[in-house]
Amino acid sequence: MKRSHTVVALAVVGLFFLVPLVWSQDPMMVMEHKEIGPHQRPLVDFNHDKHTATLECIRCHHDYDEHGNNRGGDDSAQSCAGCHNPTARGGKVPLLQAFHGQCKGCHEVMGGQGRKSGPVMCGECHVRK
Ligand code: HEC
Ligand code: HEC
Ligand code: HEC
Ligand code: HEC
Repeated sequence: MKRSHTVVALAVVGLFFLVPLVWSQDPMMVMEHKEIGPHQRPLVDFNHDKHTATLECIRCHHDYDEHGNNRGGDDSAQSCAGCHNPTARGGKVPLLQAFHGQCKGCHEVMGGQGRKSGPVMCGECHVRK
């Protein structure tokens, strides 16, 4: 076999091992909402898949009707910033408070109930790398 053929054959075999390895890793969502302003803390890695494994979509992707009932909806892809203005006032929840309220709020509640939960300390979400 020619040398170039050997190289190609090895590359193909290599892909067989590499592709499943990359796919099997949980995809991380890096939270970088520039609308909030220049970031002062390390960016937060959010593992969406780990959360959807045990939590209903509607818990986070809420949509309230006029009576304040969370009717969720199929439009779960709508971004938080689509409804939460970074500088909202007057009873409306600004974007940063929306993230902290939802992320930390749920971790605190579930942790308080003694269930498996997520971090509540700044440096555990804003992890210095
Ligand atoms: C623990 C909270 C949480 C749960 C549960 C959750 N999501 Fe999300 N999801 C988020 C957050 C936060 C984002 C990022 C939103 C943003 O950037 O404004 C997001 C983003 C998305 C996006 C946009 C993806 C992208 O790459 O921009 C889709 C689609 C989505 N979620 C669908 C779902 C579906 C379907 C479910 C239920 C199976 C679900 N989510 C459950 C929190 C959650
Ligand atoms: C379709 C519009 C809409 C979307 C999308 C949306 N919200 Fe909200 N959210 C609201 C409304 C309306 C309220 C009531 C307070 C207000 O008007 O700001 C609210 C309230 C909240 C509150 C206060 C506690 C509660 O649950 O009522 C938090 C925290 C919050 N949102 C976080 C988020 C996060 C995080 C996302 C993205 C995953 C998100 N929201 C997406 C409309 C939305
Ligand atoms: C409705 C409840 C809920 C909300 C909202 C929520 N979490 Fe969690 N989080 C959990 C639970 C439950 C776990 C434990 C999951 C596990 O280990 O299986 C967890 C685990 C975590 C962990 C540690 C596990 C890991 O490696 O991913 C991090 C970091 C985290 N959450 C970040 C976030 C961030 C950032 C947000 C907001 C964008 C968020 N969470 C919103 C319930 C929630
Ligand atoms: C459960 C996870 C979690 C915890 C705990 C947490 N944060 Fe955050 N924080 C977030 C998320 C998610 C955002 C939104 C980041 C984005 O999308 O740009 C954010 C944004 C911020 C921002 C605005 C962006 C920046 O980097 O300047 C500041 C400031 C901040 N957090 C400070 C803190 C401080 C201080 C604490 C502790 C008191 C803390 N956070 C705890 C998840 C968390």
